[in-house]
Amino acid sequence: MQNILVTGGAGFIGSNFIRYMLAHEPEIRIVNLDALTYAGSMENLANLPDPARHTFVKGSICDGNLVMQLLHEHRIDTIVHFAAESHVDRSILGPGAFVQTNIVGTFTLLEAARRFWLNEKALGTQSVRFHHVSTDEVFGSLGPDDPPFDENTPYAPRSPYAASKASGDHLVRAYFHTYGLPITITNCSNNYGPYQFPEKLIPLMILNAVEGKPLPVYGDGMQIRDWLYVDDHSEAIRRVLHDGRVGETYTVGGDNQPPNIQIVNTICEILDELQPDAPHTPHARLITHVTDRPGHDRRYDIDITKIRTELGWQPSEQLQSGLLKTVRWYLDNPAWVDAIRKQQEYQQWMEANYAGRQA
Ligand code: NAD
Ligand code: DAU
Repeated sequence: MQNILVTGGAGFIGSNFIRYMLAHEPEIRIVNLDALTYAGSMENLANLPDPARHTFVKGSICDGNLVMQLLHEHRIDTIVHFAAESHVDRSILGPGAFVQTNIVGTFTLLEAARRFWLNEKALGTQSVRFHHVSTDEVFGSLGPDDPPFDENTPYAPRSPYAASKASGDHLVRAYFHTYGLPITITNCSNNYGPYQFPEKLIPLMILNAVEGKPLPVYGDGMQIRDWLYVDDHSEAIRRVLHDGRVGETYTVGGDNQPPNIQIVNTICEILDELQPDAPHTPHARLITHVTDRPGHDRRYDIDITKIRTELGWQPSEQLQSGLLKTVRWYLDNPAWVDAIRKQQEYQQWMEANYAGRQA
């Protein structure tokens, strides 16, 4: 692993991954291909450690010629594929972009990797890897007594986002079985931490609470997610790149399953403590139950036995301390927050997703 193509590296997890890898892998160089959609920002890439080892390229994973050019020019031996449309609610209101990026984009990358590594034999297959970053949402929704998701759980996606990610996963596996492309896949749970776009639950609730706006909890708020601190996710991918078995999938999670309402209450309590004199304290007063997400998955839980026993990985961040760090980061970075919140696209999204929901 010397020359890594990271796709979607200006987004939340991709930018954290680049920061983490530059800090932990002194020999690697990273080429970051990102289309800079609403979710990607150069501000996510400020203050990288050793930035000379990072090259940013603005472009789409759907542009096969560009991808081929980057593979050749930088002699890419490792692809870590994050680029995606990633927000379930957006996939409900506009599924087309999800099909394009998450399916066609993944296919385009796979084709380029196949041509460069296998057909042109540019590098030995022992030294190359296509790592696909996927989600636990491909497994669907668990009932109260179902066992947690693991690597053998059948796929049962229920949102357009989840279905598009599932399609991407199937294509990646097909390229391994059919062409022998050296792949690995991680399916992980909900990430949280710095630089997350404030359309997702945790940053949305932090920023709304700080501004004294309603905290829109979908339905009864008893839906359950597993929460993974983003640096733990980066370390999991790093372990898979180093020691993961080619062709294998690893499920990755934070080993906690609180209901959403508990997450929102914890954020409120943290803000009450950090800002006791804020006009909106106690912040829990702002919690407003609103119309539920259509097809809302009720419960996720994830079994990390395989990655723990094979690769010695386990999450190191506790949910409470991770949430405290995250709230502090949003409070300490008002310029980053303002840049996003003042974007017209963001305001339009908030209107489109929330205005029609009944309190
Ligand atoms: P994000 O929405 O914050 O970032 C996505 C990035 O991809 C953005 O920088 C965007 O500009 C870029 N992008 C979108 N379309 C592109 C295209 N056609 N070409 C190049 N770049 C493009 O997403 P995230 O939360 O960082 O998620 C990253 C990956 O991890 C996704 O594949 C997602 O499915 C997966 N994942 C996310 C979570 C989570 O909790 N956020 C959990 C499990 C898996
Ligand atoms: O499980 C992994 C997935 O986690 C990733 O694949 C997705 O990319 C990522 O967006 C995330 O999907 P979720 O739908 O779980 O994340 P989100 O932050 O949108 O919502 C988390 C939970 O909070 C979910 O049950 C819906 C609920 N929610 C969300 C929002 C935005 C609310 O109650 N209110 C809200 O305003």
